[in-house]
Amino acid sequence: MMDAGRHPKIKVLAGSELKSVSGYIGNFTAVVRQKARMVSSACTSCGDCVEVCPVSVPDEFEEGLGTRRAIYKPFPQAIPSLFLIDPDSCLGSNPVACGKCKEVCGAKAIDYAMRDEEIVLSVGTVVVATGAEPWDPTPNVEYGYSRHLDVLTSIEFERMLSAGGPTGGHIQRPSDGKEPRSIAYIQCVGSRTQDPCRGMTYCSSFCCMETVKTTLQVQEHIRGVKQTVYYMDIRAFGKGFEGLYTRSRADGVRYVHSIPSSVTRDAAGRLLCRIADPDTGELREEAHDMVILAVGVKPRTDSDAIQKLFTLSRTEDGFFLESHPKLKPVDTPTGGVFLAGFVESPKDIKDCVTQASAAASRASILMRKGEVTVEAITSSIDPGLCTACGQCAKVCPFHAITVDKEKGTATVVEALCQGCGTCGPECRFDAVSLRHFTDEQFFNQIDAALEEEPEKKVLAFCCNWCSYAGADFAGVSRMQYPGSVRIIRSMCSGRIDERFVLYAMEKRAGIVLVSGCHIGDCHYIDANKSTLTRVEKLQERMRAAGLDVGRLHRRWVSAAEGRRWADTIQELADRLPSVDPAEVSKAADWARDQRVKYEKRVEKHREKRRAPKPAMAGSGAGGAA
Ligand code: FES
Repeated sequence: MMDAGRHPKIKVLAGSELKSVSGYIGNFTAVVRQKARMVSSACTSCGDCVEVCPVSVPDEFEEGLGTRRAIYKPFPQAIPSLFLIDPDSCLGSNPVACGKCKEVCGAKAIDYAMRDEEIVLSVGTVVVATGAEPWDPTPNVEYGYSRHLDVLTSIEFERMLSAGGPTGGHIQRPSDGKEPRSIAYIQCVGSRTQDPCRGMTYCSSFCCMETVKTTLQVQEHIRGVKQTVYYMDIRAFGKGFEGLYTRSRADGVRYVHSIPSSVTRDAAGRLLCRIADPDTGELREEAHDMVILAVGVKPRTDSDAIQKLFTLSRTEDGFFLESHPKLKPVDTPTGGVFLAGFVESPKDIKDCVTQASAAASRASILMRKGEVTVEAITSSIDPGLCTACGQCAKVCPFHAITVDKEKGTATVVEALCQGCGTCGPECRFDAVSLRHFTDEQFFNQIDAALEEEPEKKVLAFCCNWCSYAGADFAGVSRMQYPGSVRIIRSMCSGRIDERFVLYAMEKRAGIVLVSGCHIGDCHYIDANKSTLTRVEKLQERMRAAGLDVGRLHRRWVSAAEGRRWADTIQELADRLPSVDPAEVSKAADWARDQRVKYEKRVEKHREKRRAPKPAMAGSGAGGAA
C-alpha cells in the first residue's frame, strides 16, 4: 500500500465514492465524490488530536473489538497517512461544538469548513476490485454468535491475533479477559448450505487454510493450548497448503470430521459444542473456552450499483461474471473494464494478487497500444428506416445505442456494441441489422436446414457461448443424440428474431428450439432475458391462434452441460413422430400470414420514407415572401 501511495503514476483517492461512469473503452468519464476529511494535508500524524478527542466509538477496522476516536486514522498503514474526522460521531454532529482537536493541532491542519468534493476523471480502462463482504453469522443462531461473547468470527479473531490489534496480539476471552486453554473452530459458517438464511451455496475457498494458518499462529502464542477444528472436509488444494495442514495436525491440533449442531454455555462459562461422533454417530458435547466461526464471504450489498455503473453481468451467486473462464478470465463483457479479486469469486490472497496483476496487464496493454480494435460483429441502424422509437436502445445491455429524437434516428456506438444482436428483433421496421449475422443469412440457413423432410427435423437456434458449446461438448464427449437436429448458431440467443422462428414454421419444421445460456450466465449481461420474453410472447400468440405450442421450445444449456443438451434433443426428437401434419400445415399458413403482414408494414414504411416530404406551411420561397 505504501508503494502505491508513493508511486508517481498512482493517485489514491481515499474516502471516495464513484458516482457515475459514462463513455466507453479508452474514453470513460468517471465522477468521483471525495468525502471531506476536515483534516488538511498539513497533518503530520502526530496524534495529539486523538489524545484530546472526548468521543469513543467502536472501531470498524478492529471489527468492533476496540474503539477509536471521532478524529482517527482508519488503520495504521492508511494512505494518505493523515487523520480524518468522522462527522457522524464527532460531538453534536457539529465539530465546532467541541473544537479540542483544532486547539491542540500544532500543524493547523483541522479545517471544519472542508466540504465533499466532486472530481471528474478521464480514464481509458477500469479495474473493478471492490471485494466482498464477510458472512454475518447472526442468523446461524445455533452457534450463539450474538449470545455468547466468547464466540467470535475468524475475522475478529484475526484482529485479536495481530500485534497491532485491539489486544496487542494477546489472545483473551472477551467475557473475562482470561487466556483460553481450549479453542474450537467451526468451518463452513455461511458457506456450502442450501438454506439461503444460513449462508451461501458455494465454498468460500479460503476459510480452511485460514483456519489451518490460525491454529499454527495460536500454537506460537499459547504453548500447550488445545485446539479442535470441526469440519465437513478440509480443502487444502493450493501450493504448499497440504504441508501446512499436515504441520497443524502434527502440532497436536485435533481435526474432527463433524460440524456442531449447537453451541451452548454451561454454568462455568465454558462453551459446549454438540457434535455427532464421526465414528459411532453418538451425540456428545465438547467444552471449549472460545469458539471461532470460520465465516465465508458474500457479494457486496452494493453490487447492484456497481453492476449498473459498468453494465456488468453477474453469476447466480451474485459475483461478477468474467467474459470467458479460460480465455478471458479477467475481462468483462464491457470493453476496457476488468475484474480482480473477490468481486469475481471468493479466493485466497495469492489468487487475488495473481488476478490483479493479470487485470493490470490487460489494462496496460490496451493503454500502451493507444487504440482498440472493435469486434467486426456489431449492429448497424439504417437511418432511412429508423423512427427513433428507442425500442432497440431499451434492450441493449451495453447502452450502446443513442437515440436522437430530434434527428429522428438512433445510432450505434461501435466501441460499446459487443455484437449480441438483441436490438435487431425489437425493430418493427427492419432498420437494425447485425454484421455477419444478418437476417438474410439466418433465412438462408433455415432454408438449407429444412430442405429435406422438414417435419422430421428439430431446428435449434443456439447461442455461441453456451448451448452451441454444450452441443459441441456433447459431440466431443461422444454422447449419443438423434441426428434429426439442425443447429443454427447466433452469438447470443437474444439475436433470435421471432421472424426466424415463424419462417422455420412456414418451412414446416417439426419442432423449433431456441437455446441459450442460463439466466445470469449470458455473455451479453442479460440479453437472454429478451429471448425469454420473446419466446413466451410468441407462444402466447400461437396459443391464441389455436396452434400447438409444443412445437416451440426454449431451453437453457451451458457449455458444460453436454448431457443436458443430448437429453434435450432426445426428448424433442421423441416428440417428432407425434407432430400432426395438419397442425404443421395450419401453423405454416399462420406463419406465412404473419410474415406477409410484417413485410407489408415494412414496405409501407419504406415508401413513406421515400416519398418527398410535403412542404411545410410558411417554408420555401413562397413562405419567405
Ligand atoms: Fe448465450 Fe446470450 S450469450 S444467451
